[in-house]
Amino acid sequence: MDPIALVRQQTRAQHLRVERLVPLALTPLTLPYYRQLLATFLGIFQPLESILSNLPVPADLQLAGRQRSHLLVLDLQRLGLAPDAIHALPRCADLPRPATLPQILGLMYVTEGSTLGGQYISRLVLQHLALDETSGCAFFSSHRAEVLPMWQRFCAIVRAEVADDLTQQEFVSSALSTFLAFEHWIERSLPLSSPE
Ligand code: HEM
Repeated sequence: MDPIALVRQQTRAQHLRVERLVPLALTPLTLPYYRQLLATFLGIFQPLESILSNLPVPADLQLAGRQRSHLLVLDLQRLGLAPDAIHALPRCADLPRPATLPQILGLMYVTEGSTLGGQYISRLVLQHLALDETSGCAFFSSHRAEVLPMWQRFCAIVRAEVADDLTQQEFVSSALSTFLAFEHWIERSLPLSSPE
């Protein structure tokens, strides 16, 4: 089976759980809630990206250009947080440690896939808070017109590298544990409704 179709099917329920923990469309999106959302994402994206940058990620994945946690720092600064307050925000320590290429790709499936949802979130943020990529919504707006081509390049690499049953298993179970880390972290860090 196509590894992307397989992982999408196997993680669908987890994606839904994560979406429910970030109920952007249900409550009026407020600035304090949005700031907390950015802080929550920084707390997990930054350590995940630093794990990845210490791994032998193949050059054709163009990891540096895919990393986005610096944009969370930028957004938080633009929304008034001082650098030492950003530095002091909690970071997630309970994260998967991929060791093989299929496991690296499984982790990246989750971080790269989240750029697709980012397009939807950036539209909501613009609509409700009038913030765009220059004024506090750089993270969710990242890659802009490149989102789909970058996602397709990532999927092509996965299809080339994750071919047999064993690598598919490693790929999918790494994506599952990454989703689970997100779920636990968001559950702990973000209120379920917008603070006024
Ligand atoms: C409220 C928050 C979120 C919303 C509304 C949302 C929404 C979406 C949407 C609309 C897509 C595109 C589906 C498609 O084109 O078929 C998508 C894809 C995806 N999202 Fe999210 N998302 C959210 C949060 C997240 C988070 C936090 C993660 C990572 C932990 C994530 C991981 C993914 C993945 C991996 C895909 C790719 C699925 C695939 O095509 O294989 N999403 N999301």
